[in-house]
Amino acid sequence: MCILIIDDDRSVTASLSLLLKQAGHASRVAASPDEALAILRAEPCQLVVQDMNFSRRTSGDEGLELLTAIKSAHPQLPVILITAWGSISLAVEGMKRGATDFVTKPWTNQHLLQTLETTLGVTAARPRPDEAIPGREELDAQYDFGDLLGSDRQMLRILNLIGRIAATDASVLITGESGTGKELVADAIHRNSRRADRPFVKVNLGGIATTLFESEMFGHVRGAFTDARADRKGRFEVAHGGTIFLDEIGDLDPAAQVKLLRVLQDRTYEVLGSSQKRTVDVRIIAATNRNLTDMVGRGDFREDLLYRINLIPIHLPPLRDRRDDVPVLATRFLQTMAAIYRREPLSLTEDARRWLQGQAWPGNVRQLRQWIERAVLVSSGDCLSVDDFSASVAMETREPASDMLPPVGSMTMDEIERGMIQKALKHHGRNLSRVADALGLSRAALYRRLEKYEIQV
Ligand SMILES: Nc1ncnc2c1ncn2[C@@H]1O[C@H](COP(=O)(O)OP(=O)(O)OP(=O)(O)O)[C@@H](O)[C@H]1O
Ligand SMILES: [Mg+2]
Repeated sequence: MCILIIDDDRSVTASLSLLLKQAGHASRVAASPDEALAILRAEPCQLVVQDMNFSRRTSGDEGLELLTAIKSAHPQLPVILITAWGSISLAVEGMKRGATDFVTKPWTNQHLLQTLETTLGVTAARPRPDEAIPGREELDAQYDFGDLLGSDRQMLRILNLIGRIAATDASVLITGESGTGKELVADAIHRNSRRADRPFVKVNLGGIATTLFESEMFGHVRGAFTDARADRKGRFEVAHGGTIFLDEIGDLDPAAQVKLLRVLQDRTYEVLGSSQKRTVDVRIIAATNRNLTDMVGRGDFREDLLYRINLIPIHLPPLRDRRDDVPVLATRFLQTMAAIYRREPLSLTEDARRWLQGQAWPGNVRQLRQWIERAVLVSSGDCLSVDDFSASVAMETREPASDMLPPVGSMTMDEIERGMIQKALKHHGRNLSRVADALGLSRAALYRRLEKYEIQV
């Protein structure tokens, strides 16, 4: 099977054919839409590379028409578009019509080849819809998912996809509500990739001030701006050879979106204060709990950036839609807490297990973990009952100021909460961030309670 190159510029097709040949790929060349469609009818191709501006006389409509014709005749065939830098909107329109990826001119041979090979790799790796999904054990025998638990059908499908595409360099966009495990998924992809022993650099894009974005991501040289007293490495440089995890990508403001698009486009960037171009070899994984498609509709997120990052979209379902995983997760968290708080092995009553499974879990797996941790702090026995979770339920629905609290057993809610906070303080060595985290409280909410219960720290 070969790669079909469509362009009317002979010098382009000649150099592309040569490039592909050197990389071990056979190719065919078409100089017009008719010729391209004729070749595709006559022989199977594995990939198409199409120049969108191939007819100098037109605005690109002809390119879009050809793309549409190719995709309707061969829906599974991946098409990569080449567009001029100024006509990114054309590339975006092409992506909407089914193109797999796009490369902008002027392209470097290395980047183009990487794009082609990633696409070929993804096409080969992607599980087919009719394929049977392996069970959790079978998947664990093949891949290392780290701490990522779950054997619900939807999760198995996701785990299978993670394993299969990890080896390619394709960009992945992980979406899902807060607390669904996006970070663990990113980690699992890196672990199973050929980059596993290189850096995995996590960047929280929501936490970077706009003015510091470039310096943080691309680095700066000494003297680049007033406070730049020494050279500083950017996150992309640190991630070189490995994976960069762009977390909370939906929080980026428009100016930063453009800057990010540039480096994702051709993997080159400039260090602040130097005019030198750097090339970086990184795999991109992005995540957000926002709906980027809606944001594009409102004009809050660049459409071209969205297409750049979501070659492989992975959507994590909320915990309430995979309730069968609740006991598995709860059991693991009980083990973790028993180890942290140096307790005997812990378990759940049958009632508690069913009750947990029935909760709505708006905070998803993170919330389940917090509730288990609080219950462990409240309980003195080895087997947690529904009562041990009532402090969590109460904390979720009230502020500590109110005194009208339901008593649990012989203790009031206040007594339970006070005891819980004291235990957490003891175990976390008075590290208030960790305590707030364990109890699922903001630091402010924790301070309010410390004051109310007159706990000295
Ligand atoms: N499938 C899972 N198996 C085991 N632990 C999980 C799983 N999903 C989430 N967790 C745990 O839940 C917590 C939240 O997970 P994570 O940080 O990956 O969520 P997230 O989707 O990135 O959330 P946010 O959008 O708020 O950043 C972590 O403690 C994580 O270890
Ligand atoms: Mg996260």
